[in-house]
This record gives sequence, C-alpha cells and structure tokens, in this order.
Amino acid sequence: MTQSPPDQQSVALALAAVADPETGRPLATMDQLCSIAVTADSISVIVALTSHSAMLWGSTRSRLEELLRTRFPQVPNISVVIVEHLRPPSKIGQIGLEAKSVIAVGSGKGGVGKSTIAACIALGLARAGSRVGLLDADVYGPSVPHLLGLTGRPDIQDGKIQPVLHQSLPVEAQSAGLLGSTPRPQFAMPVMSMGFLVPAGEAVVWRGPMLHGAITQMLRDTAWGPLDYLIIDMPPGTGDIALTLSQILPLTGAVVVCTPQDVALLDATKAIAMFRKVNIPLLGMVENMSFFLAPDSNKRYDIFGTGGAKRTAHELDIPFLGEVPLQIPIREHGDAGRTAANFDDPASRPFLEAICVSLIGNLAAAHAARPAMPSLPVL
Ligand SMILES: Nc1ncnc2c1ncn2[C@@H]1O[C@H](COP(=O)(O)OP(=O)(O)O)[C@@H](O)[C@H]1O
Ligand SMILES: [Mg+2]
Repeated sequence: MTQSPPDQQSVALALAAVADPETGRPLATMDQLCSIAVTADSISVIVALTSHSAMLWGSTRSRLEELLRTRFPQVPNISVVIVEHLRPPSKIGQIGLEAKSVIAVGSGKGGVGKSTIAACIALGLARAGSRVGLLDADVYGPSVPHLLGLTGRPDIQDGKIQPVLHQSLPVEAQSAGLLGSTPRPQFAMPVMSMGFLVPAGEAVVWRGPMLHGAITQMLRDTAWGPLDYLIIDMPPGTGDIALTLSQILPLTGAVVVCTPQDVALLDATKAIAMFRKVNIPLLGMVENMSFFLAPDSNKRYDIFGTGGAKRTAHELDIPFLGEVPLQIPIREHGDAGRTAANFDDPASRPFLEAICVSLIGNLAAAHAARPAMPSLPVL
C-alpha cells in the first residue's frame, strides 16, 4: 500500500512545537515557519532563525530534517533551509548597550590563554553569523588588539567612540549551504580596547575609580551598534572589574578559562567564587592547553596534567564547555596578530567550535527551561 503525500498542515504540525533556539518558544508561535512546500516526493521548508542562534543553525536544521524524516518516512526528499529572522536587541542596563547577551571571559590567573579563548569565542560566533562585539576589559594589559592584528586610534563621531572593526570574517552558514542561495551580508566585528588609546609600551597607572570610569566609558560610549553578543575579555585577578560590570549592566554570565594545572585550577575556583559573589551566573569552564599532540609522532603529552578542569567544573556544578590543546600554531597566530586563522586550522578549529556550540547550546537550553510567561508576584 502506498501512503499518500502529507499535506502542508500536517508538516506544519510536526514542526510547530520545536523550540526557537534563541527564545525557547515554539517556532510556530513566532511565525518562524515561513514556507512549507509539499509534492508527491518532497517536503521543502523554510525556517526563520535569528542571528543570535547562528551557532545552532546547523544542529537545528538537522533536528528539523530528522523530525520530518521520522514523521514522513514515505517522502524521499526532505530539505530545510534557513533564512534570517530579524529580532533586534533591546537596550540593556542604564548605559543603553544594545545587546542580547553579554558574556565575560575570565580566569584567576594570567597567561592561561584567556584573551585567546575570549577572542576565539567572539570570532567563532561571528563566523557562524551572529553580530558580535569584543571588549578588552584588561585595562592594564590589553592584548586583544595584538592577538587580532588590529591597530588604529578610534575616532569620536557624534559623541561616540568608533570601535576598530575586524573585517572579512567569512560567514560559515553560507558556505555550509545552510542558507540556501540567500546571500548573507558580512558583518565586521567591532572591537574596543585600551590598547587603541594608550601607545604600546606605555604603562597605565590608574586608581580604582578611574578603572571603573574607563570600563564604563568603553561600554557606554562606544558605537557598538546592535549586537547579539558582547564578549568581554576580563583582566586576571581580583574582582574590581567584575564588580564594576555587575553594577552597570546585567551580564548574561561568565566563562572561566583555566589550564589543567593545580595552581590554575585553584585560581579558577577563586574566580568562580568571585563571579558568584557579584551574582554573575557561571556559563561554564574551558580547559586550555589541555594536552599536546606531537605533530611528528602524534603522541599525546599531558603537559599540565589532564582532566582537572572537567573534574573541577563537575565539583563546582558548572558546565564544562570543552578543551583546547596546546598547539604551536595557536601561539604563532597569536604572535602574528592572526588569531582568526585558528579557524582555518583543522587541528584547532573543531575544539574552538565545540566550545562555542556548547556555550550557545547551554544558553538556548536555559531559555527553553524558563517559563514563557513570568508569573506575577502575589502581593
Ligand atoms: N592552546 C594554546 N596553544 C598554544 N599557545 C597558546 C594557547 N592558548 C594561548 N596560547 C598562547 O599563550 C600566551 C598567553 O595567552 P593569552 O591569551 O594572552 O593569555 P591570558 O589572557 O590568560 O593572559 C599567548 O602567547 C598565546 O598565543
Ligand atoms: Mg589577557
């Protein structure tokens, strides 16, 4: 017996309850199922997803296609294409920053690769198709301009500091065919750092309140434009900047970077306690310099020990986002101002992408778990 082709309505019904990876609300309620075309042997669906969830476009499409294949096994050709659903950010905090998520990347200790990981998270999200800004909050030791090969003095226009733009990031979703033939415009990534304002090699000697002022100014007075994510590279050590940030805007949360070494883990534990003290949610832990794979013998060396961050994350009840091996090219790219090139290296890229995917996947899961309508307090 041959089954008759499904009608549009039953296809819509099959997909209706799938949660939007940004809001967690069903796709159907937000008009995100744009078009459904059904023939005797094919189902073609166009789904609109926001750029905030660009990191999850691939997995969302696979999930929708799988759902349709399971529900309509008689239909041999099933395709889902993504178009962009525009949902601009609202202003957050008192400083009027237009961003949907603000993520601080911190660690207790310097030299663990925090700035490298912060830059790679920003680059990874931007390459996926999100609108991302990167703020270097390490006022005493700004390294983001160097890691990204950016120079220049930001101009002031209309009373706003014009950030330096990181250009020519490819849009992965386009080359991966996720977006069908719809051309997706490229967005340059705005970057702001004290390194653009203070000449290289010059020391900044500031007191606490001035530090507070500098961070507030870089956040408030920079023409960031509407952002999906603002990634903040935090300075190592004490909680000054974290406290400042928690006072001026609602942070989505913090990512803590450490190495598997005991001293780094101890410092990371302190950083986690510090974030908790100022009520910044912990989004997860990244283990950097996890191991070294000798390029000549492919032998693995656990230079700083192994598995420590995963264990610590588990003990402290924080998601473990992934690991990044110690790789000579990561250091070379950093020194040459080509951190973005880590994404062209097959030995680094999967690790960096996996971290971005778990980070954004966890954010999406947290959204989905939130009640759709906040209940009003009973007075
Ligand atoms: N996984 C890695 N493999 C090799 N070198 C790394 C790795 N992560 C960071 N580095 C290098 O280590 C140094 C310190 O990194 P950085 O990101 O500036 O650390 P932090 O911000 O924690 O002080 C840089 O030279 C960087 O290129
Ligand atoms: Mg740094």
